[in-house]
Amino acid sequence: MVKTIKIIDAKKHIDEEVKIGVWLTDKRSSGKISFLQLRDGTAFFQGVVVKNNVSEEIFELSKSLRQETSFWVTGVIHEDSRSHFGYEIEVSGIEVIGESEDFPITPKEHGVDFLLDHRHLWLRSKRPYAIMRIRNQMINATYEFFNKEGFIKMDPPILTGSAPEGTTELFHIEYFDHDAYLSQSGQLYAEAGAMAFGKVFTFGPVFRAEKSKTRRHLTEFWMIEPEMAFMEQDESLEVQERYIAYLVQSVIDNCEYELKILDRDIEQLKKYTKLPFPRISYDEAIEMLQKNGADVKWGDDFGAPDEQYISEQFEQPVFIMNYPKEIKSFYMKPHPDRDDVYLCADLLAPEGYGEIIGGSERETDFDALEKMIDEKGLNKEEYQWYLDLRKYGSVPHSGFGLGFERAVTWICKLDHLREAIPFPRMINRLKP
Ligand code: 4AD
Ligand code: MG
Repeated sequence: MVKTIKIIDAKKHIDEEVKIGVWLTDKRSSGKISFLQLRDGTAFFQGVVVKNNVSEEIFELSKSLRQETSFWVTGVIHEDSRSHFGYEIEVSGIEVIGESEDFPITPKEHGVDFLLDHRHLWLRSKRPYAIMRIRNQMINATYEFFNKEGFIKMDPPILTGSAPEGTTELFHIEYFDHDAYLSQSGQLYAEAGAMAFGKVFTFGPVFRAEKSKTRRHLTEFWMIEPEMAFMEQDESLEVQERYIAYLVQSVIDNCEYELKILDRDIEQLKKYTKLPFPRISYDEAIEMLQKNGADVKWGDDFGAPDEQYISEQFEQPVFIMNYPKEIKSFYMKPHPDRDDVYLCADLLAPEGYGEIIGGSERETDFDALEKMIDEKGLNKEEYQWYLDLRKYGSVPHSGFGLGFERAVTWICKLDHLREAIPFPRMINRLKP
């Protein structure tokens, strides 16, 4: 009996005859030999069919196979030092499973819109393969990290009445005879969780009706929101940098093949595992920008080019601390020595990637929080339960949110968030 294996396990079967279920991604043949490019979801490698070693029928079949035809391939595994992958199969048998005709994504170059229209098929290509496996590694590393640090995962609702990050970017839905929104952040619920369980994290989809078409914005993205009771902002920054370093290290340790496919420099990534990350104040960031001739003044929010410039000045991710109150959310705790800024920070990823984390210490005082809810014009009814958290044993607490696709985009060194998620949702894209 020939053993059925996966391509990824080829190295354990050198010189053995094996059987693998595969799809054809490309082929090339001469009179005497055909080279079949194969994939099975776990990896990509080459099958070699030598005319003199197989029946006439198998050789002819190998030449007639079309892109994305699925088949069982049988043969012996050999080392192949010329490929990234390192192994190939010398084919002895081919049994077609599913025919394929005119697969739309051919080995030639395609425009991005065409590829996105065919995302359901584009996912089969090498680049999405590498990105999605790195994404998967980062998902696993996230659970590992927070479990090790004593957090429990808590799932917040997606149908909600609150708007923690402001009312301009909400997806409105009809909820029977009420108004409701798709959640833009699980934070407020995570705070309730922190008061119940000490340290929690959320990891789920959030929604923002972003009208802007930028490379950094999706309308549906995944966010990780840890929230910690009895923790001040300084200690939260330490959790954040440990988490980011853990994510990067885990990708370095487990995704060498994928990083190679993406041509991502591992030496560069290693710099991001050294702690601590630099910290500067918002005031210093404004000064840096002004010295560079940017047209910004104290109180302005940073645009993408500003964040890019700042992040390019550092070799590592950098925390920008203590932003002005006007440009941040109602739930943040004011700085104890200054009444114009909050105890908050954004983490900007290096290489020009900009904000990947937003976080802060939270306001613990009932009256101050109620006042802010009024001032920001929020519907107080909706926040009664959130105010309750300040009524019964309020404690210092802090938290943050990592935009997961932003982190994947940076670690994989992509140009645009749309490649960091299997089926991107943007202002003009709801299909496939
Ligand atoms: O800075 P934001 O809006 O912060 C919050 O939502 C807080 N409630 C987090 C917290 O303290 N628990 O969003 C957090 C992160 C950003 O730093 C960014 O990485 C990402 O979410 N993000 C987006 N990612 C993709 N598309 C968008 N439209 C995004 N908006 C924010
Ligand atoms: Mg933010």
